[in-house]
Amino acid sequence: MDRIIILDFGSQVTQVIGRRVRELNVYCEIHPFNKFPFKDDGTSIPEDIKGLILSGSPFSVRDKNSPKVNLNNFIGKIPILGICYGAQLIADTYGGMVEASQTREYGRAELFVSEKGEPIFKDVPQASIVWMSHGDTITKLPEGAKLIASTASVQNAAYKIADKNIYAFQYHPEVFHSEYGGTMLRNFVIGICCCKNDWTTESFIETTVLQLREKLGKDEVILGLSGGVDSSVAAVLLHRAIGQNLHCIFVDNGLLRKNEFEEVLEQYKGMGLNVRGVRAADRFMEALHGISDPEGKRKAIGKTFIDVFDSEAQKITNAKWLAQGTIYPDVIESSSVKGPSATIKSHHNVGGLPEKMNLKIVEPLRSLFKDEVRRTGIALGIKKELISRHPFPGPGLGIRVLGEVSKEKLNILKEADHIFISNLRSYMTELPPASNGLSYNTNNSANNTSDSKNLIPLYDAIWQAGTILLPVRSVGVMGDERTYEYTIALRAVVSNDGMTADWVHLPYDFLAKVSNEIINKVKGVNRVCYDISSKPPATIEWE
Ligand code: XMP
Repeated sequence: MDRIIILDFGSQVTQVIGRRVRELNVYCEIHPFNKFPFKDDGTSIPEDIKGLILSGSPFSVRDKNSPKVNLNNFIGKIPILGICYGAQLIADTYGGMVEASQTREYGRAELFVSEKGEPIFKDVPQASIVWMSHGDTITKLPEGAKLIASTASVQNAAYKIADKNIYAFQYHPEVFHSEYGGTMLRNFVIGICCCKNDWTTESFIETTVLQLREKLGKDEVILGLSGGVDSSVAAVLLHRAIGQNLHCIFVDNGLLRKNEFEEVLEQYKGMGLNVRGVRAADRFMEALHGISDPEGKRKAIGKTFIDVFDSEAQKITNAKWLAQGTIYPDVIESSSVKGPSATIKSHHNVGGLPEKMNLKIVEPLRSLFKDEVRRTGIALGIKKELISRHPFPGPGLGIRVLGEVSKEKLNILKEADHIFISNLRSYMTELPPASNGLSYNTNNSANNTSDSKNLIPLYDAIWQAGTILLPVRSVGVMGDERTYEYTIALRAVVSNDGMTADWVHLPYDFLAKVSNEIINKVKGVNRVCYDISSKPPATIEWE
């Protein structure tokens, strides 16, 4: 299979380049600029690597410590596309000049193609909108370069060095706002690099099933199901490969949504999976007793999960493998240029599991982005309701009851959450416009049967939603009585990957209905608030 390698210099949108390339049905990999997937002296570029894309970066090429690669090793050997920092790096290396812009250029700009018939601009109109985001600008092109496009304020917006097979864009073709960015990437990947576009969901399933059969043979495999998309898709894929030799374990930690354990367990059984449901809510409550610190709660939940899972897994005596639903963003994140992000919480709560169990690891979704996992799930026949579920944290409602968790508080939260989520599912809306560079979660809605007016459930237009029980009580009146009860916060965000997020402008009539229902039906709550903070600086979860 042909491959494109994307060298990551630390831009926030490098993953988006990867997704755009995959959308062209071309396989690609993202690697930190300093960790090449082959010898970085360029002497042994594998034949299946057809092109190199250099990403953007938060650095300036003028910084002493900015990330650099020795381009001479690749130049002329395979086609190269430099994006933003990548374009500046090439200019800086080959005799061009990069200087600080007078003003930081951020946002939409109109690009004028000056070279007619240029292959990288095939099917791109002479004027189109592109997205700029840079503090430096290329004031002098590198040697042998030819200017191929400009904007009103950026003369050297795109250039080409024909004899070196280099293309370079100052703007970001990968982001949604660059109208013909996808076309330009297609021209590079398929037109110039000559990649075959044979990376499809079907081909992925076919080859993965064969590889899994070969790798696992008749071995028994254990997999922990969470009710989420990744572990479910991994399970069905493995089940297709090895059938009943896959043993799934689904733990009820008591921190799942209302009725979730029973409903999801039924769905799993309906799919033919060999699954054991383990009810362990009491053990988790015990472990959480007296702990109010968020990280402390995560650790207690993670440790209890490992214990419960491990003792269940011991019963499968011949197991040799532990399967995990790791997906590509986890792989990239754990070897990223910046190192695992310090700004996020300890998300991999069950990180100690593989070491403890002493099993070999198999991760069938390691190369897939989230939207590809969803498509794979659909192609494997998993129900849409499961595939389009919002992300849900491992510690579940345990980190949405702020402070110490009690059974009483958990029950209040489960009821309120159920009302919020049910209403999100039943309220129909038009697909909202994207805001702030974030596209709405259209991968969910694409799988949806929208009616003729193009209405979709509000749930599908949102990346993630949930309720939070605040550890404060406030005064209210109900009938003639004064009440002193809890407050529920509602949270709904749009995001691409959870790293940044925008709060959703939920319709007032929707908010009014949810608030009324919660206050009227959930005993113990007399106030509902809506969280209107974006990430950063807030996080999606409150703990
Ligand atoms: P934050 O709150 O950091 O969340 O903005 C980003 C995404 O990660 C999820 N999240 C977790 N997932 N274990 C998980 O499996 C955790 O401890 C955890 N904390 C946050 C969160 O729901 C959101 O999707």
